[in-house]
Amino acid sequence: MKPNNRLLQWARPEIVALKPYQSAREEFVDDGRKMILLDANENPFDNGVNRYPDPMQKKLKQRLAEAKGVNKEQIYLGNGSDEVLNQLMIAFATPGKDEAIILPPTFGMYQVCADINGVKTIEVPLTKEFQLDVPAILAAQNKRTKMIFIPSPNNPTGNCFAVEDIQQLLEKFNGLVVVDEAYVEFAEDQSILPQLSDYDNLVVVQTFSKAQGLAGVRLGMCFGDPIIIDLMNKVKAPYNINVLTQELVIKRLDEQGHVHKQVHQIRLEKERLVQEIISISFVKNIYPSNANFFLAKVDNSSKRYKQLIERGIVVRNPSKNLNCANTLRITVGTPQENNALISALRTMESE
Ligand SMILES: Cc1ncc(COP(=O)(O)O)c(C=O)c1O
Repeated sequence: MKPNNRLLQWARPEIVALKPYQSAREEFVDDGRKMILLDANENPFDNGVNRYPDPMQKKLKQRLAEAKGVNKEQIYLGNGSDEVLNQLMIAFATPGKDEAIILPPTFGMYQVCADINGVKTIEVPLTKEFQLDVPAILAAQNKRTKMIFIPSPNNPTGNCFAVEDIQQLLEKFNGLVVVDEAYVEFAEDQSILPQLSDYDNLVVVQTFSKAQGLAGVRLGMCFGDPIIIDLMNKVKAPYNINVLTQELVIKRLDEQGHVHKQVHQIRLEKERLVQEIISISFVKNIYPSNANFFLAKVDNSSKRYKQLIERGIVVRNPSKNLNCANTLRITVGTPQENNALISALRTMESE
């Protein structure tokens, strides 16, 4: 019998039918008593991390649900959003058969995930203003298109996409609309997360790697319909979020005042950097950015990239991306790092 929910129809049939691995800590229902744990073949001597982590990250999800205004059942957590993106593909796209839409210039991991999973990508370029070409996207969709990846703010261009365009896709696109909000904290009031319960096909991905300052900890979040979250839980490794990550992220949730101050400072520094860098003779343009980085058009990106490396500064040269010829992607650093960048660029003007 075919499942009658459209999300289940889109999902890979073998994943819908999958009986997931049942880990030791999932079988036992914790009623709050102090128990002797002889169920998971661990070393019994306490060192803080000798026990497996909670496989479903209940405490962390409870905190995130409160912080984000969603239900616990709408949250899946991965080892960085990179893992979340891969899990989405595993759950929904059949290797060798299904397709995903990507929007160049875009974040490189979508193509890598597709290649790993044997999923074909359909490329629908952004407009010249780096916005969504909604009619072209809808025209590119066919029966095998399972998802579209929309990073907003976009990487490498830095801009947000028009919310009305994303809404149009949510209404008309017959598949998952994955809005990757890795940089959303830098883009005031632009998150689509408050609309999560309005659209069954909306998947929002966020991360603790960027504004939250925990790139080394690896925590990616996926918010979506509980049916999507159930499918992702089925395909995840049993203990994919380690004890230290769960603890550090909970601690970070108590420090949001501090994070807001840092985000504010980074935004001010970005404005200062843009003002300074636009006056450098070989900088032709700086594209509007809602993120903690910006794309600068220069005379010769390979030459300028190498000159910066010689001066001990690493930026990104995304020039191979569509419509990004001769650009450098520059992340906003500390005030001292930004001063060093400005000085280095000035010394390069005569070369
Ligand atoms: C748009 C976008 N999504 C996802 C990621 C990956 O983030 P994470 O560190 O959570 O895997 C990045 C990192 O550069 C990104 O730019």
